[in-house]
Amino acid sequence: MAALAVWILFMCTVFTESEAQDCGVAPLNTRIVGGVNASAGSWPWQVSIHYNGAHICGGTLISDQWVLTAAHCIITSTLDLWTLYFGIVTQSGPNPNQVTRTVSQTIVNSNYNNPKFNNDIALMKLSSSITINNYIRPICLAGNSSQFYSSTPCWATGWGRLRSDQPLVAYNILQEVQIPVVGPKECSCDYTQDVNITDQMICAGQPNKGTCQGDSGGPLQCKQGSVWVQAGISSFGPQPCALAGYPSGFARVSAFQSWITNQVFGTNVGFVTFNSSGINQDDSYVCSSTTANQNQTSTTTQKQTSASETTTTSSATVPELSFTLISAICALFTQN
Ligand SMILES: *[C@@H]1O[C@H](CO)[C@@H](O)[C@H](O)[C@H]1NC(C)=O
Ligand SMILES: *[C@@H]1O[C@H](CO)[C@@H](O)[C@H](O)[C@H]1NC(C)=O
Ligand SMILES: *[C@@H]1O[C@H](CO)[C@@H](O)[C@H](O)[C@H]1NC(C)=O
Ligand SMILES: *[C@@H]1O[C@H](CO)[C@@H](O)[C@H](O)[C@H]1NC(C)=O
Ligand SMILES: *[C@@H]1O[C@H](CO)[C@@H](O)[C@H](O)[C@H]1NC(C)=O
Repeated sequence: MAALAVWILFMCTVFTESEAQDCGVAPLNTRIVGGVNASAGSWPWQVSIHYNGAHICGGTLISDQWVLTAAHCIITSTLDLWTLYFGIVTQSGPNPNQVTRTVSQTIVNSNYNNPKFNNDIALMKLSSSITINNYIRPICLAGNSSQFYSSTPCWATGWGRLRSDQPLVAYNILQEVQIPVVGPKECSCDYTQDVNITDQMICAGQPNKGTCQGDSGGPLQCKQGSVWVQAGISSFGPQPCALAGYPSGFARVSAFQSWITNQVFGTNVGFVTFNSSGINQDDSYVCSSTTANQNQTSTTTQKQTSASETTTTSSATVPELSFTLISAICALFTQN
């Protein structure tokens, strides 16, 4: 009897340790910097969420049964309209590592959009659990004591539009872009009263680099040692996309550790504390007329891409600025 109890404990210990170590590892991600097209296996947790047969949002695999995405992506409660694609790089295929699942449950954070765009987080439960391999693996989530200082280099990934003037369909090839974290003080200065930047949001981006319609629900991920940690869920941004002075907005994953843990009760999700070192430049950030977007309307360069590094194009026309959620379907609503 005593021997048996010890054995079970031992098994459990081994099991949970290996589970925790397994998140956030991408054995096939060999990229160092730059590039546009992602290669197979680079982001094995990236999910393409299809609504009624078309890509609408990204998501991330966080266990063998659950996908994390944005609340604003959940536009229906009819479960059989959803299909989740795992292990894919292109929307058109062929994708030799593709596995699909239907959805048995969706959970939207009940405080979503209170205030505007806040708590933009949701979960989807797979109809059946998925087999983990080098192309389909869970990401680690940022635990609640994580720190993401300004300028922390992270990556955004997705099939969203490459530019705001492109058609509202998913881009075929999964895109990746490295963008720096923009601290909350600076991001609040940037967005002024248009979007109140809350503790449940994290910003990242730089001119010409950011998220666009169709990227929503996908990850902002940062590497710590050999492990990728999800810092954010793509949520909102300026229209046109990646406009200078307006970093992309994400739901701050570390603010939802308790919420996620409670929703997936009994499932092993890997939370990792992401640490920053040195000085956080955001602590001493002060809004001023030279840093805030006082002169935005004088911007003459149309700057926009999704997770890509498209060359800047000059344009004589000043784009009309607005702020939108960035699922493909929301763009349809806001543009007309
Ligand atoms: C990405 O893939 C597309 C289609 O194969 C190709 O046209 C494009 O040049 C690639 N981009 C880069 C930067 O390799
Ligand atoms: C952080 O997460 C741990 C583990 O779930 C929990 O015990 C703790 O209460 C959380 N702290 C906060 C501030 O939510
Ligand atoms: C942001 O907060 C301020 C002050 O509470 C409020 O006046 C403003 O309407 C808010 N803006 C948005 C977009 O929620
Ligand atoms: C991050 O900080 C936490 C708390 O101080 C510590 O337990 C953990 O080992 C650190 N992780 C890394 C990778 O440095
Ligand atoms: C304001 O305009 C100046 C001159 O065009 C430009 O250099 C500066 O970056 C702009 N500031 C912002 C915050 O866009």
